[in-house]
Amino acid sequence: MSKIFKVGLIGCGHISETYFRAEKYFNNIKIVKCADINFNNAKKCAKINKIKAVTVKELLKDKEIEIILNLTIPKAHYQVAKQALTNGKHVYSEKPLAINFKDGQELLRLSKKNKLYIGNAPDTFLGGGIQKSKELVDKKIIGKINLGSAIFAFPGVQSYHPNPEPWFAKKEGGPAIDMGPYYLTALVNLLGPAKKVSGSIVKGVKRRTIGIGPRKNKTFKVECPTTYLSTIIFENGTVIRLTLSFDVITHKRNHIELYGDKGSMIVPDPNMFGGSVYVCKKLGNPWTEYKTNKMPLGKINIRSQSSRANESAINANYRGAGLAEMAYCIENKKTHKCNGELSLHVLDIIDSMMKAAVTGILQNIKTKCKKPKRFTNQEIKKILRKNI
Ligand SMILES: NC(=O)c1ccc[n+]([C@@H]2O[C@H](COP(=O)([O-])OP(=O)(O)OC[C@H]3O[C@@H](n4cnc5c(N)ncnc54)[C@H](O)[C@@H]3O)[C@@H](O)[C@H]2O)c1
Repeated sequence: MSKIFKVGLIGCGHISETYFRAEKYFNNIKIVKCADINFNNAKKCAKINKIKAVTVKELLKDKEIEIILNLTIPKAHYQVAKQALTNGKHVYSEKPLAINFKDGQELLRLSKKNKLYIGNAPDTFLGGGIQKSKELVDKKIIGKINLGSAIFAFPGVQSYHPNPEPWFAKKEGGPAIDMGPYYLTALVNLLGPAKKVSGSIVKGVKRRTIGIGPRKNKTFKVECPTTYLSTIIFENGTVIRLTLSFDVITHKRNHIELYGDKGSMIVPDPNMFGGSVYVCKKLGNPWTEYKTNKMPLGKINIRSQSSRANESAINANYRGAGLAEMAYCIENKKTHKCNGELSLHVLDIIDSMMKAAVTGILQNIKTKCKKPKRFTNQEIKKILRKNI
């Protein structure tokens, strides 16, 4: 029987619902108190989830709390995680680690100095989709992967989010900060660490119109680049062309495609836990499907779309797996999968891509991280509840 870690939530917004749901899936986490800079949000969240709302300060000083779950907005991740670490708490934050490399680096230093765990989303790479892809890549089913492409592109959140401005704000906005972590974490998982990165910006629509809510039809100014094109050179020699954009009406490309010297692979959506992997080993042949819906973190667990969380009507969403795995590792003194080295490396790639786009100069990635190992069924079993 695993120990159940008492978790204190800071940031009671949209995504918090998904983490409360995670308690049903994983056997070692329990959110017992919550706090928010806006106390009304904390009170609302506490009432729905039958826990206690406290102030941020009270939560950070609370002796009962072992892990701070940081679900604040990206620009607050650094301050909240830092406060957690200086108050003797382990911390697990939503993505990204911080909005700039320097802050991320400091968080890692602090966690090491204080001998506390720092964990970070995304944890979607622990799901069936990326894990099945990893198994096939590691078995060299498509041979040596020389190149590939990855794309996240859509028109932006302004049509369906009542408060879309943060996605377009000067320092913390844009698709690289918002969606980059999913794609880059998945790629580092499959290919190992990156070495160099280029970047360029394509100018998009500079004023956007809010499509929903009390401010419907109001316009606002876009303060950050909304399209990045980048080439990433990995240490193993693979070259990936990455598109991250809030300026594309629609497209039909696959999220990630990898091209090896023995075949090609379509990797499912890195923002989700499930999805099939497809492999084709000869021009003109049909693609072989590798289903993941029988895998422990690939099984469909969402059958009706939540209006609040970012998920499609039917899918596998086990967000919180990274937090539960970190808790397991704290108890067993192991290195967790969603660790600080990995998230700092991903932030380094994002930061360097942005720098490359401004300077026009190819940037060296400053950090290294170990290529993550597979999340085995045996390991998953340790944190998954029996009935899941
Ligand atoms: N919404 C999604 O579908 C989704 C999906 C995946 C990841 N995420 C990530 O989760 C995080 C939160 O997203 P969200 O959609 O829930 O945002 P949100 O704006 O709905 O909620 C954020 C909450 O944090 C609070 N907050 C902000 N700064 C704070 C501070 N300094 N101290 C304490 N509380 C503070 C806000 O008052 C708000 O209640 C982001 O990092 C986002 O990238 C969101």
